[in-house]
Amino acid sequence: MSDHTSGLTYAAIKDLRSRAAVAAQNSHSPYSRFRVGAAILITVGDSPEQKIVTGCNVENASFRLTTCAEQSAIATAVGLYGPQIKLHAVAVANLNRAASMPCGACRQTILEFSTPSTWVFYPAENDAPAEATLTDLLPAAFRLHQD
Ligand code: THU
Repeated sequence: MSDHTSGLTYAAIKDLRSRAAVAAQNSHSPYSRFRVGAAILITVGDSPEQKIVTGCNVENASFRLTTCAEQSAIATAVGLYGPQIKLHAVAVANLNRAASMPCGACRQTILEFSTPSTWVFYPAENDAPAEATLTDLLPAAFRLHQD
């Protein structure tokens, strides 16, 4: 199977999307009923070994405390492997057959551990597969530069 522009195989992308959908089954979303899952493909430090970590949205009765699926997966990965994680790809899925790309806050969270070519795979309308680079999703991103 030929490679996607990201360097991933189409089979690897399909697998990442399907892991995101599986993770969405654990969603705690009694308020929105929007069940979201994310699967991230990472490496740690200079190791070439790829790992996949998943997460789902976790809502709260105090609505603003909700954690998005992408944030949940990234926080889990940092907890497991430390801050040297590099995000090569993020897949998002939902069980509502709705379009869902990462929200603005999630884009900034992805940026924190991104590479110059982090890819995001997400569902468009009618569950049609869609994709973009993080750079396309978050141009002119905030980065902290201090002396
Ligand atoms: N949600 C995510 O998990 N990821 C996103 O990028 C967008 C929104 C969740 C948060 C909330 O639980 C539900 O979707 C509705 O906004």
